[in-house]
Formats: sequence, structure tokens, C-alpha cells
Amino acid sequence: MSDKKPDTRIVTGGRRKDWLGGMVNVPVSRTSTVLFDSVSGLREAYPPKHGRLSYGRHGTPTQWSLAEALSELEPGAAGTVLFPSGSAAVAMALLSVLEPGDELLMVDSAYTPTRTFCDRELKRLGITTLYYDPLATAAELEALLTPNTRAIFMESPGSLTFEVQDVPAICAMARQRGIATLLDNTWATPLYFRALEQGVDLAILACTKYVAGHSDVMLGSVTAAERCWEQLHRTSSHFGQFVSPDDCYLAARGLRTLGVRLQRHQENALAVATWLQGQPQVARVLHPAFETCPGHHLWKRDFSGSTGLFSIALNGGDEAARDALVDALELFGIGYSWGGFESLAVPAEPLRTATRFKGAGPLVRLHIGLEDPDDLIADLAAALGGYPDSTPAPV
Ligand SMILES: Cc1ncc(COP(=O)(O)O)c(C=O)c1O
Repeated sequence: MSDKKPDTRIVTGGRRKDWLGGMVNVPVSRTSTVLFDSVSGLREAYPPKHGRLSYGRHGTPTQWSLAEALSELEPGAAGTVLFPSGSAAVAMALLSVLEPGDELLMVDSAYTPTRTFCDRELKRLGITTLYYDPLATAAELEALLTPNTRAIFMESPGSLTFEVQDVPAICAMARQRGIATLLDNTWATPLYFRALEQGVDLAILACTKYVAGHSDVMLGSVTAAERCWEQLHRTSSHFGQFVSPDDCYLAARGLRTLGVRLQRHQENALAVATWLQGQPQVARVLHPAFETCPGHHLWKRDFSGSTGLFSIALNGGDEAARDALVDALELFGIGYSWGGFESLAVPAEPLRTATRFKGAGPLVRLHIGLEDPDDLIADLAAALGGYPDSTPAPV
């Protein structure tokens, strides 16, 4: 199927006839015990193999179908493992490539729970994390390597401040040194950034967001290149990772419409961000498709689209005024996560240790959903109208 275009693959991927029978969507197959006709049949089912029933934890057609569909979106993938959340996917991908005594280079703009996992759990295992500037070039990262560096983790763009990283150059440098590369690709999804083709070893998705797409499922995935597949699969299996077939069913259902949803998220977000850029209360739009976003030139070079999530730095004002602005929005829900069909707004408070994020004023992160952008703009206009006057601040 890898000769087909991505929009075709999201429709056809993982829909094997022997898993679906005559049905269009893969059914929810639930089991723990699998029964065999004989002891020899039972023995033949081991070691567990993708596509062969052995025991519930090793999956049924519902899980296999979703994993295969996700692999088909990353040409060259050796396989995909599913996890009960995006955070579990991040944790397990890291554990699959790191051992006590190793050092990890972690991007300073990473999702906060990813940082917490490194600072608490990896530390407990004797693995050291060194944070690096999201705008570091491959050469600057190379200068940070030590004989113990085993992995480089990227999140591009960062999900609060949206710096775009030079993923292909970093991966090429790491490959020469035998260092594994991991990318949280949740913002772009494989539809807008082909992580494995760009050299990434382990491509991570919080499928909770755009893949599931309806704000009602928690799920994660890691799609691996051949050189990291075996260890990802083995480690996940030893840690007993498993996702409910009900959740896989919902995520697979969401995946089939990912192309059209992302296209609309993209259009709506661009319309809203363009309007916001012209407002006096907004100092800067942090959206990878805008020149005001650090790493915009890399987005232009490497990505084939943008999605619905971006931030704005307000022009002066304080956190209380920012919180009041978010409270004043009517169409935007106030809540974490993103990637569903609905618009959301949250105060964004980036946690940094290796770099300092400088905004003219407080940040608000917006997820632009599938509502009519004119209504979203009207809602933002009303809320921004109440934002305190501020003198233009340097960007
Ligand atoms: C960029 C990014 N990665 C990973 C995650 C974690 O996903 P989950 O909430 O499914 O654990 C999130 C959640 O917000 C996220 O924004």
C-alpha cells in the first residue's frame, strides 16, 4: 500500500479481509483467554505474533488493525505498538532505548509530563537527562554529546511555544553516532510530517488528540524503524502494555476521517491566527506557518501542512488579565488536551531549564476546532476587547 497516497492509506490501512470479514470497520474483539483444539495448537501460538491469536494481552484483530493502519502512514516502518495514553507511549519509547548509566538529550520545549518522566523516573533508574535548546542546530547538539549519550528526544513543534526543530539534520547526525532518535509527532501527525522518512527511529503519537479526534479516548502509539523495532516491541511486551479493543475501535474510526478533519483544522486555525496577528492586544502569534514562529523556515521545508494548535503572546498585561480573557471566551472550552472537533483555550506556562522563553506578555494556547472561524473570531474579539490597554512591547 505504500505506493498509494496518504489519504488513501488512512482509508484502507489495516482493513485486512481476514480481520474484518465482510464488515467495513474492524469489529471490537474482546478476549483474555484464547482456546485451542490441542496442546500442540497452544504451543504453536507461541511466541506471540502479530496477526495470530495467543492470549488477550497480545491483541486481537481490533488492535492489530489499528497498529497496522498507523504503520502504513509511515512508509518504511517495521511496526507500531499501541499504548494506553500518549504519555505511556513516550515513557515506553524512552525505556526501550535507554539503560542505567545512559544520557538522554531532551528538548527544553517538551510537553511537561514528558519532562517529569525524565526528571523522576529515568533519574531513579540512573539515566541522566540533559535539556537542550529547541532551536539548536545539529552541530550544536553534537557538541553536547558525551560517550554516554544514547538518545535524542525531539518534539517539533513544541506544544506550548511551537519552535520547529531541524529534525532531519539532528537525525542524520545521531545516526552517524549510533544514537537513537525519538520524535513526539502529535501536532503534525504522519499526514503532515513523515517522521521515519526524515530519519526518526521512534515516532510517537498521542492518538488521544487528532487520531481519535473526538476528545473521548486516551491512546498512544510508537511507530518504529527497523533498527529500533525489536527492542520497542520486546520492552513494551515485558512491561505488559495493552490497549482496550473498545478504545482501539474508536481510534480506528477517528483515523479514517483524519485527512478531512486536519484540513479543516488547518484552514480554521490559519484564519483565526491571521486575524489575531492584526490585533493590538496580540504581540506575537506562535504558529509554525507564520514567520513570527521560531523555526518557521524548517516548517516550510519539512512539513506538508499545519494543524489547529498554536499560542499567542499577549501584548503586556499580567497573568490575572490573561486568565480573565480565557474566562471571557464563550465558544472556547477551558481544558487540557486538544485535537478534538472543538475549540479550546488554556493559559500556557512553559517550563524551561536550559533556555528562557521570552514573550512580550502572558501566553494563551488555542486549539481551533471545526466551528465556523467567523464565530471563533467574534468570540475572541469580544474577549480581547476587555484586555487591558498596553504599550507595544518588543517582540
Ligand atoms: C505533545 C503531547 N505529547 C504527548 C501528550 C500526552 O498524551 P496523553 O494525554 O494521551 O497521555 C500530550 C497531551 O497533551 C501532548 O500534548
